[in-house]
Amino acid sequence: MKPSAVFLGIAALAGQHALAQEQSPLPASCSTFPTQGQYPKNAKLPDPFLKADGTRPGKPTVTTSMSGSTISITCAEGGKTISFSVAVKAPSGSGQAPYPAVIGLGGGSVPYPAGVAVISYNNQDIAVDNPHGKGKFYDLYGSTHAAGGLMAWAWGVSRVVDALEQLGADKTKIDVSRLGVTGCSRNGKGALVAGAFDDRIALVLPQEAGSGGPGCWRIVNDMKKNGTKVEDSTQIVQGDGWFTPSFVSTAADVSVLPFDHHMLIGLVAPRGLLVVENSGIDYLGPPSTFGCTTAAREIYAALGVGDRIGISQASHGSSHCQLPSSQNGDVAAYFGRFLLNATAGSTGFMDTDAKWVFSLPQWADWTLAALS
Ligand SMILES: *[C@@H]1O[C@H](CO)[C@@H](O)[C@H](O)[C@H]1NC(C)=O
Ligand SMILES: *[C@@H]1O[C@H](CO)[C@@H](O)[C@H](O)[C@H]1NC(C)=O
Repeated sequence: MKPSAVFLGIAALAGQHALAQEQSPLPASCSTFPTQGQYPKNAKLPDPFLKADGTRPGKPTVTTSMSGSTISITCAEGGKTISFSVAVKAPSGSGQAPYPAVIGLGGGSVPYPAGVAVISYNNQDIAVDNPHGKGKFYDLYGSTHAAGGLMAWAWGVSRVVDALEQLGADKTKIDVSRLGVTGCSRNGKGALVAGAFDDRIALVLPQEAGSGGPGCWRIVNDMKKNGTKVEDSTQIVQGDGWFTPSFVSTAADVSVLPFDHHMLIGLVAPRGLLVVENSGIDYLGPPSTFGCTTAAREIYAALGVGDRIGISQASHGSSHCQLPSSQNGDVAAYFGRFLLNATAGSTGFMDTDAKWVFSLPQWADWTLAALS
């Protein structure tokens, strides 16, 4: 089994439990975990792919075809099937196939450099914003499936990567070893989750994803206490089904969460990650995204790859998802290093035009573990 296949087993688990784990003190699977003495006797080596609820993780059977610039993907599981398609835009400029490509949730809205193909993925087709449980993911797995919309969107990204692998570079002209994922706002939250849970993605570029993306709930709460109008956990669970329904009760007191989003960001390590944020929109919680990325950088640093994570944060009026040209260079540096093999251009910067100072010791009482 390829490492990616092993990872997909875990990702499939994550489809049911990841955000549940992230957002509730005890994941459903652990709260019902048998205690010692309750396990059935088994003289053989236990099944490493068996979940506590007796089901086995897996991924759907994916079949795919390409016609013109459209890739059609059919996923079958338990007698049900769903189909969706993505549009591939060939890269501008010169360059040679196979090309690197970016999967854009909702198309994405960062400037794509020459030489990079763009795969437009309509994630709303897989899970609608609200209510929870509507969209093709839920047609396949049931409307009461615990995964929130962000996880369902990430599942769809993984199926797109499956399709690219199956079709092969001769057909798609895309190099699966050089894939990025991006999106803005809610689609940026989805891009981060997709990048966190599929290690076949080489570059992750969430744009203005704010709270629920690269922002940490605890820092957001502090901002709110200080009088800033920022989206907090209690707000995000109202209306949109982006998070697992069990987060609703936990959202009231995020201090009980065993995780915060610096750990979600850290799941992308050691791959390339640029958090692109707007320092001028309070609702996104800019000090929170800056602080949370700073904390996540410690995870990268522990792995010896602190120069692969960065943040680019600038204020540019109120236009949400309209990257100002001042940030183009930061974005280009990440595309260059992680998708275009460029050696020039620096990554690993923590750029902000804001006046706040984030003090990690104020927020973290842990120190760096030596992992590398
Ligand atoms: C909130 O205000 C306190 C007191 O000035 C300050 O120490 C803290 O850093 C502020 N929190 C954030 C997230 O800016
Ligand atoms: C980048 O590196 C890959 C893998 O070594 C190679 O296949 C590809 O041709 C390179 N692309 C460019 C633009 O140099």
